[in-house]
Amino acid sequence: MLGAMCELFVAVGPGSARAGETRTPRRPWQRGGRADLRFVYGAVAIALWQRGRSVARPEQVASDGVLGAGQREALLVSERAHGVRVCASRMRKVAETFAGKVVLITGASSGIGAEAAQMFAERGATVVAVARRAHLLDAVIANCRKHTPESFFLAGDVGDRAFAESIVATTLERLGRIDVLVNNAAISKHKHVYHTRAEEAEAVMRINFLSAVWTTFAAIPAMLRQGGGNIVNVSSFAAKVTPPREALYAASKAALSAFTEGLWHDLEGSNIHVVLVHPGPIDTEIWLKEDEPPSYRGKKYPPSIVVEAIFDCIQRRLYEVTVPRRNPMLMSARFLRLAFPSLLRWGMQKADPVPPEVLEKARARSRAGKQLGEVEED
Ligand SMILES: NC(=O)c1ccc[n+]([C@@H]2O[C@H](COP(=O)([O-])OP(=O)(O)OC[C@H]3O[C@@H](n4cnc5c(N)ncnc54)[C@H](OP(=O)(O)O)[C@@H]3O)[C@@H](O)[C@H]2O)c1
Repeated sequence: MLGAMCELFVAVGPGSARAGETRTPRRPWQRGGRADLRFVYGAVAIALWQRGRSVARPEQVASDGVLGAGQREALLVSERAHGVRVCASRMRKVAETFAGKVVLITGASSGIGAEAAQMFAERGATVVAVARRAHLLDAVIANCRKHTPESFFLAGDVGDRAFAESIVATTLERLGRIDVLVNNAAISKHKHVYHTRAEEAEAVMRINFLSAVWTTFAAIPAMLRQGGGNIVNVSSFAAKVTPPREALYAASKAALSAFTEGLWHDLEGSNIHVVLVHPGPIDTEIWLKEDEPPSYRGKKYPPSIVVEAIFDCIQRRLYEVTVPRRNPMLMSARFLRLAFPSLLRWGMQKADPVPPEVLEKARARSRAGKQLGEVEED
């Protein structure tokens, strides 16, 4: 997109074709002289603009659940004025406190959500943990209560709109506020499209995408009343680069990412801060729940790095983060996506090609009048 915007910049910028002049359309980097410079200026301007969009907004007040940048400065000045020696790590510790705040986390029975519940509670937040498996939530909340005794869990299916809305209502009823909403619940769908039923598409969209819309819609009025809040949506790197057999999962996460970007625009000035997280390969049980064996064999990272990234985004008011931040595989995939998208698709297909027998069987089922996903007899 950056490339396309740069092309546009050069095309409409000073020195582009004058009236009546014919010219051969060429890429900006194929041109010489001043056009090259304009391309560079354009790229830098857009990069700065993009960076500006992803960092702090000015409206940072205490009601947002953490100290804003200005408040950290004020604290530092005041502590210095009182002769207190303030080191950077102490400042960071102060900034990291979520004491007295209420954090609602979906998908908190395992993986990133369970880790988030624990780490938020350790920093003083009262946690409301949501998922379907009550026995796992019970254990998560027992640990949270060691730090914040008011923490509790709600067991149910967030893919059910009534339940998704009720978790926000119950949180407000019992705790009176909601400072951070973490939309993290999701199911994997690593499955070839020939093997997937239409009902599965609906379920994936309800759990991975619509649940976040429902909780967000329910939470915004409360956050407006209390003066601010944070909405953290856990998307996936798959929303940026779709791997083979992940059409539905990636589509649900791409929808979540687009929804989050829309929220970022629409909530401007409300002091409701929106965070979009793109985890890469994280070592959780989601990998054991895949419908078909995953082809990825590389390193997986601990869930705590995702939670640290969430803290960082809330505190520094960052909009978006990819975790891990400097993984060479993710970085090169992003570069290829931007610069050579067809090369990236080619490479990914080579890494996980469609086996000829899968296609053959799909053809046979189609000839027999079966719908996609009707694979029982295979
Ligand atoms: N691990 C990775 O490599 C990775 C990579 C990219 C993105 N992510 C994203 O990170 C988030 C957390 O995933 P994870 O890796 O921690 O996997 P996980 O351990 O499987 O966690 C998924 C959580 O979602 C809950 N959940 C699933 N369906 C639900 C439903 N219908 N209603 C309520 N809760 C439901 C699960 O609990 P119950 O089964 O008890 O309901 C579980 O607590 C997900 O959004 C995932 O897409 C993970």
